[in-house]
Amino acid sequence: MSINQSIKPITTEEKENLTIGGCDLAELAQKYGTPLYVIDEATLRGICREYKAAFKDYDNIRMMYASKALCTSAIIRILDEEGFGFDTVSAGEIYTVYKSGVNMSKVLFNGNNKTAREIELALDYKIGRFSVDNFYEAEILNGIAEKKGLQAEILLRVTPGIECHTHDYIQTGQIDSKFGFDLSQLDEIIELITSRYKNLTLKGVHAHIGSQIFEPKSYYDEVEILVKEIARIKQKYGIDLKEMNIGGGLGVKYTDSDTPPSIKTLADAVTEAMHKYAAEIPVIYIEPGRSIISTAGVTLYTAGSSKQVPGGRKYIAVDGGMADNPRPSMYQAEYTAEVVNKLNYTKTERITIAGRYCESGDILINEIDLPEIEPGDIICVYNTGAYNYSMASNYNRVEKPAMVLVNNSHSDIIVYRETLDNLISFDNIPDRLKKYD
Ligand code: LLP
Repeated sequence: MSINQSIKPITTEEKENLTIGGCDLAELAQKYGTPLYVIDEATLRGICREYKAAFKDYDNIRMMYASKALCTSAIIRILDEEGFGFDTVSAGEIYTVYKSGVNMSKVLFNGNNKTAREIELALDYKIGRFSVDNFYEAEILNGIAEKKGLQAEILLRVTPGIECHTHDYIQTGQIDSKFGFDLSQLDEIIELITSRYKNLTLKGVHAHIGSQIFEPKSYYDEVEILVKEIARIKQKYGIDLKEMNIGGGLGVKYTDSDTPPSIKTLADAVTEAMHKYAAEIPVIYIEPGRSIISTAGVTLYTAGSSKQVPGGRKYIAVDGGMADNPRPSMYQAEYTAEVVNKLNYTKTERITIAGRYCESGDILINEIDLPEIEPGDIICVYNTGAYNYSMASNYNRVEKPAMVLVNNSHSDIIVYRETLDNLISFDNIPDRLKKYD
């Protein structure tokens, strides 16, 4: 079984309490407070190695991590040690990667509206590749590179006419997306690059067909379309594009009903299409985010108040919610949970886990069977490594949680818990509003 096919981190054990990475989760909650993000290093490194093993027959594979899924300095250090490069989408992500000591030639800058300031920063840091998304970006990137006397090495982001999320998969001539060039616009941008944009060096194409993908065939079709496009460009312009970025998107298992394919299955689909359609195998970039970090992460909460709606549902409220995990309220995402300190209790209650934020929609899990929960019990929500902390907010002026890394029965803080002073540290009171005693 691939790690992305497991709901729980690979080191999860049921001892007196639930443990991950050899650490008792009730003790972690006690030591660091809750809500608490916990990342299991063995699961994270394990999945990186699975990806590398699955693509080991390609000499020219470039494993990238889509850092938007979770971008903190310690996580970047681990991915760097595992030999991954980085897909970044903002000055903040680029800066985090840079400050973490990464060789910037392994970094790609992607996004549909990069600002001039971000482009300057990326050029100054000698970032490896820009994924140029649109005509406007090509113009300003070329201009800034020219002023700096630099050459920007680029991929062209395209929308190959495949759109895919979980089980839904559609292939059309065109898709209505804000990202990238439609295939019918490729000739125009290539002609601009060859005739006017002397500071852009075109290396290849880039696509990303969706997220939480369960259907390997969509990758097969994506590779076929991109390979054929590369051949067409070679024939028409004599330009040999030697690089192809197939994006990320592999799904993970949030609940029992999720059935993501293994990493090997993904690699087989890519390999089969590549051997069938490519005259020459290009450099292949793959840039997963969710499937790298999701399973490694869990969130711990403390149970507090409860409400039994007469004749209706029972709510148990926890000390976090939509600000540390916006996915249920944004995407109706589903999660699995357990009571850390009640492993051997029978699951006698069907409850709804509610967040502490002032919105009725702040529900973390709708109707889950768990043992009877009392205030102070610790609830572990699985598979929260991706797009939880990275999308967290300070809604209701609540401090963002801490994050710890666990490994071999040891835990380290990798993100400190915010303080009340942190919350007001960017505020300013104009003189005329100041209160003088
Ligand atoms: N490459 C590109 C160009 C992307 O836009 C993305 C994600 C990835 C790679 C990584 O995709 P992944 O392997 O993580 O599926 N916030 C949403 C997910 C948004 C994904 C956006 N793009 C969520 O929480 O489900």
